[in-house]
Amino acid sequence: MVLQVVTLFPEMLSGLLDHSMLKRAQERAGVEIRLVGLRPFGVGTHRTTDDYPFGGGPGMVLRVDVVVPAVEWAMMHHQAPATVLWTSPQGRRLDQHWCRELASLDHIIIVAGHYEGIDERAREIVGGTEVSIGDYVLTGGELPAMVLVDAITRLRPGVLGAERGAAEDSFGEIGGYLEGPQYTRPEVYRLKAVPSVLLSGHHQNIRQWREAQGLERTKQRRPDLLDGQIDA
Ligand code: ADE
Repeated sequence: MVLQVVTLFPEMLSGLLDHSMLKRAQERAGVEIRLVGLRPFGVGTHRTTDDYPFGGGPGMVLRVDVVVPAVEWAMMHHQAPATVLWTSPQGRRLDQHWCRELASLDHIIIVAGHYEGIDERAREIVGGTEVSIGDYVLTGGELPAMVLVDAITRLRPGVLGAERGAAEDSFGEIGGYLEGPQYTRPEVYRLKAVPSVLLSGHHQNIRQWREAQGLERTKQRRPDLLDGQIDA
């Protein structure tokens, strides 16, 4: 899989790719993550990438004649047709189901919006879908782009350790509800003990306890996830 992020600030994101899961995805799971900077596609001697919005208003807008060539250049990096995602608080809200669909694709280009946004014509010309990572507004699309990269790559085979699959996570394939609590050493801390079932070595009891905890947590915190699934 090739995942490309088109951004004004590649240097803001490059460090995230060199650690932990994203590093492993690139080294061992055949995921190529590539940052495409917008600056080289800027216009004029100053390589300008943005301009004032027509009609007035605050902030700056990324130029269509900068963004479109950058995305088209990224498209040529890999022969498989690219799915283009545009980060935007006005987009379709990301969820785990959509992440699973995206993780099955060969080629994704994520365009990180910035300032007040991107000239509307860029998406009309290139196509693709606007994605929101939640109902709140960030200063730019770089963090949403990396949220997408992380949420998608961890679902690729070989990225997570064998002992703990993505299928068992909250919103995963199994159950579709929240995970229960986790504990590690020490067994007792400030009089608070780890639930004894986890120390029992009885795997079936442990699995049942965890499922019950997850279900209880879901009822308490996110009953909407159970709607239509279980008689909660
Ligand atoms: N850019 C700013 N806020 C955003 C959000 N919530 N989702 C995606 N892109 C954004």
